[in-house]
Amino acid sequence: MAASAGTLARSAAAVLGAGALAGAATAAYAHFIELNNFTIRTETLPVLPAGSPDFKVLHISDMHMIPGQRPKRDFMHSLAELKPDLVINTGDNLSHISGLPALLDALDPLLDFPGVYVPGSNCYFAPVAKNPARYLWKKNTGDEANQETRAPLPTQDMHDAFDARGWLGLINRYDTLTLKGLRLEFSGVDDPHLDYDRHPGFSPTAFERQPAPSLRLGICHAPYLRTLNRFVADGAQAIFAGHTHGGQVCLPGGRALVSNCDLPPERAKGVSLQGNIPVQVSAGLGTSRFAQVRLFCPPEAVLVTLTAP
Ligand SMILES: [Fe+2]
Repeated sequence: MAASAGTLARSAAAVLGAGALAGAATAAYAHFIELNNFTIRTETLPVLPAGSPDFKVLHISDMHMIPGQRPKRDFMHSLAELKPDLVINTGDNLSHISGLPALLDALDPLLDFPGVYVPGSNCYFAPVAKNPARYLWKKNTGDEANQETRAPLPTQDMHDAFDARGWLGLINRYDTLTLKGLRLEFSGVDDPHLDYDRHPGFSPTAFERQPAPSLRLGICHAPYLRTLNRFVADGAQAIFAGHTHGGQVCLPGGRALVSNCDLPPERAKGVSLQGNIPVQVSAGLGTSRFAQVRLFCPPEAVLVTLTAP
């Protein structure tokens, strides 16, 4: 028997209603639950010279701090219990022109540890409102890089505060640190997403002079392929980057649809290889304040243990 027009209309309304309800529930979960479901991912990179003791790197990225983010602040404080040998901060620290006090409060315990940092675009310019879904179809959100549409952030004050606590800025420069008997050679670049990157290479002489075990690390915010290739060509033995947010809104299982740069989306989070050099990409700890959702991609800090082979 054919259904009446009224029955069909009621069925369609029920289906649409259920779909809308499921969509609303997913959006609510992505905003209210997963956004604050902070996790610690662990990785092991066998990149140290033979006989070296393990070395713990805490990799943080993309905090996008705005005032009032208490759960994120409490999580950041808890990370000090990991007692890292080194903190690597790969940028995008702010998402609000008034976010600096909250950022420095959240980072306060970690600033007691040796650290290095590079900036991302969200260390220079405040975000602008836009349709958050465009993150899913724009490979490279070009207008993010257009500083003329974005308010400046207190970049220098932030970097001065980091420097005052002993963190090393690697803004188109190389530097070295010796920690736990390990000589670390860094090469860092300003944000490739803004085309601010100018590769400094690695210290040309310090490496050879030192008898201590040593390791060359490339540090950047956005892991564009040109950046990774240049680090590899310069002699990096491992690379750390952020920027991708791990895809931020992913398919079940965490499969990323985008990386927000030319890195293949399947490399948007975790350790992958560029040539035979490991690249550790953080999914980040935050989001733009205008796109505060995460799905199948929880915010993370990454504890990377460097070991001998
Ligand atoms: Fe970011």
